[in-house]
Amino acid sequence: MTTAEQAYLRGAVALSHFFLRERVKPGDTVVDATCGNGRDTLLLARLVGPAGKVWAFDVQADALEATRALLTGDGLLDRVEIVPAGHERLAEIVREPLAAVVFNLGYLPGGDKRQVTRPENTVTALHQAAGLLSPRGMITVCIYTGHPGAPEEGEAVENWAAALAPKQFNVWRSCQMNRPETAPYLVFVEKGESNPLFDI
Ligand SMILES: C[S@@+](CC[C@H](N)C(=O)[O-])C[C@H]1O[C@@H](n2cnc3c(N)ncnc32)[C@H](O)[C@@H]1O
Repeated sequence: MTTAEQAYLRGAVALSHFFLRERVKPGDTVVDATCGNGRDTLLLARLVGPAGKVWAFDVQADALEATRALLTGDGLLDRVEIVPAGHERLAEIVREPLAAVVFNLGYLPGGDKRQVTRPENTVTALHQAAGLLSPRGMITVCIYTGHPGAPEEGEAVENWAAALAPKQFNVWRSCQMNRPETAPYLVFVEKGESNPLFDI
């Protein structure tokens, strides 16, 4: 891991990685719901180790190829299943309990900016992800605000997250207070232990 990758909490992606490093353990199964250029998949592949598994979803051939190339370059493709499908099909394809599901919304950096994640697919996938999470499992959602449709998608994610049962989930929204309101921000969800004392 390079110094730049582990250095500072410069934005929502860095903050999501901070939480993922704390929570994802060797041997875990996790999902990158929007693998894009593969940077989140790469972190997850390092964290789960050789006994773990990363499912990496995307709908764009360029993204799938970029992820494959990045993971191959690091010698970690053996623990990654690259899935050429929309994350709204998550529960159809993945049946195992998950330690983490990572969403990085919007468009592929360096790619076609019209090919964005859509609120209806994102919320469908989030609902399925919440059902698959293990106790202490975490969903991270990096939300952007600058492209057409982005504010509506952010609102849909927040509405979904805010409606989760507090006895079953801890739900957070985190933004940078000294940046413009348009800066990317993070919503994250932790599944609680199945413990009647959880809601004290
Ligand atoms: C911001 S990029 C992801 C960046 C990536 N996580 C990385 O580390 O480089 C968003 C990605 O979501 C993908 N996407 C759009 N709709 C999708 C869907 N329904 N299911 C899965 N991926 C989707 C886009 O193709 C794009 O590659």
